Amino acid sequence: MFKLVVLISGNGSNLQKIIEQIETGAINAEISAVISNRPDAYGLKRAQQANIPTVVLDHTQFADREAFDQSLAQIVDSYNPNLVVLAGFMRILSDSFVEQFSNRLINIHPSLLPRYKGLHTHKRALEDKQQEHGASVHFVIPELDAGTVILQGVVPVKVNDTEETLAERVHKIEHIIYPKAIQWLVEERELSPEKPVKVFLEEES
Ligand code: GRF
Repeated sequence: MFKLVVLISGNGSNLQKIIEQIETGAINAEISAVISNRPDAYGLKRAQQANIPTVVLDHTQFADREAFDQSLAQIVDSYNPNLVVLAGFMRILSDSFVEQFSNRLINIHPSLLPRYKGLHTHKRALEDKQQEHGASVHFVIPELDAGTVILQGVVPVKVNDTEETLAERVHKIEHIIYPKAIQWLVEERELSPEKPVKVFLEEES
């Protein structure tokens, strides 16, 4: 069985969709563990409800990033995962972690990469008066938000959008593309890194 380890820091709505798509059989994989760096992450409850083992590794208990990342790497590695899924994991991972799991570490970023790497993506898209915005599932490499894009989800930007309404729309497309991208990796589907496949959000009624 293809094994996932999912890293979270918060709400875990993407985790929830991945769990659901595994349950329906749309993803042929199992989640070996959900790991959170925050003890109060709601995503831990979602995992427990689905009978998935959880681990809390509180980064505030470590002297520095390297020490935390070394422990994290050991725990992740102990599950021998085929894929490590960052789903709202709000920490930058050190190069040594990223290199240890290279080609099996993915993230979802709330923009149409290569546009808007880093933070405040919705605000920046609005300021630039973009007509389209979205999210990208990509491999993680040491350079921030710069790894090969696997799949993108596109949403329209509407005239009255605020950061909140736009973020909500982007979340909807994230919930569609993350499970899909994971299944593509399970299937070892050939990717088109130069021109990633785009999924468009169906118009809301
Ligand atoms: C998502 O917006 C994702 O783009 C970003 O973190 C957020 C996670 O949300 N990397 P959730 O915890 O899955 O609800």
